[in-house]
Amino acid sequence: MLVAKEADLRHRYDVTWRLTGVASRRSGWLADPRGFNPRDLLEGHPVLHGPHAVPPRDVREWLDCAQADVLFEATSLNTDTGQPAIDHLRAALERGAHAISANKGPILHAWSELSALAREKGKRFLHESTVMDGVPIFSLFPAGLPATDLRAIAGVLNSTTNVVLTEIEKGRSFDEAVRHAQSLGIAETDPTHDLDGWDAAVKIASLVIVLMGVPLRIDQVRRTGIRELNLEKIRSARAAGMRYKLVCRATRHAHGVEAVVQPELLPLSDPLAQLEGASSAVRFDLDVFSFSLVEHQPGIEATAYGLLADFLRAVRPL
Ligand SMILES: NC(=O)c1ccc[n+]([C@@H]2O[C@H](COP(=O)([O-])OP(=O)(O)OC[C@H]3O[C@@H](n4cnc5c(N)ncnc54)[C@H](OP(=O)(O)O)[C@@H]3O)[C@@H](O)[C@H]2O)c1
Repeated sequence: MLVAKEADLRHRYDVTWRLTGVASRRSGWLADPRGFNPRDLLEGHPVLHGPHAVPPRDVREWLDCAQADVLFEATSLNTDTGQPAIDHLRAALERGAHAISANKGPILHAWSELSALAREKGKRFLHESTVMDGVPIFSLFPAGLPATDLRAIAGVLNSTTNVVLTEIEKGRSFDEAVRHAQSLGIAETDPTHDLDGWDAAVKIASLVIVLMGVPLRIDQVRRTGIRELNLEKIRSARAAGMRYKLVCRATRHAHGVEAVVQPELLPLSDPLAQLEGASSAVRFDLDVFSFSLVEHQPGIEATAYGLLADFLRAVRPL
């Protein structure tokens, strides 16, 4: 995405970039302040321009060696602790770099801390692509909806379950529908996280924490997945003009927020019922009006775009 938008960033925003570090479990901490060729990285052959006297051994040494101004955190989600992503983001902010995350773990476990640290350092902690990829949810609220009170959220936020339910409606078995979602690259090899509602629970909790300002824990989300649904019921509901969807809801009460993830039978007139395949949607009920956002059949570039948009918001506030 950085390469695809390179000319646009330079001409429209006067922003240029160098990719000076990359790290994963297998590659270790690779850094070169003169910059890697992104195409070499994509092909798995990063070329270092010169051996470092001491190769970085941890995230702090790596950020220093790379002379990073911005960190993109996209390691696997750890719902129990949010680690090691929290350490990566904290280290970036403490170094004085912007911290951008696609990973929801840090929102669940350290959103307040990382936001406060970012403010203290005059940097940004941004995480737009964590929910609905590039759709601007988190950036919309502070800028576009000042002085509103968010009372309720309802959404279909998990692509795998939406694909699986859509395929079952078409006549596939549960296992066939899951394999179809895997063949599209939407479901993981182990789709448990999606099918049992964990992914949806993590997303609604993230929205509650950031947009409602309530430090909801994942175990406080009442969660039911789609495994127990009867296949015939799914198909007969469809024939009768209704659809099952895995719906997340959060409602503000006098003493906090109630959050639920469960299959719901919705009339086709409900915008959430009209979602096909990997599409997702969310409805926000404010004190002054309600509105919905729909993301139509996103691909992986939608997530990459969310990270790129955060990058621009951080380095070049619009
Ligand atoms: N469309 C999407 O896929 C999407 C959308 C929104 C948000 N996200 C979030 O974005 C993140 C990345 O998604 P993904 O599908 O690419 O995940 P993934 O397939 O699990 O890949 C994660 C990457 O992180 C690296 N990694 C994992 N643990 C690490 C550790 N302890 N130290 C260093 N590197 C580590 C892995 O390195 P190795 O390969 O070397 O093991 C791998 O390159 C996740 O948090 C996910 O929830 C994804």
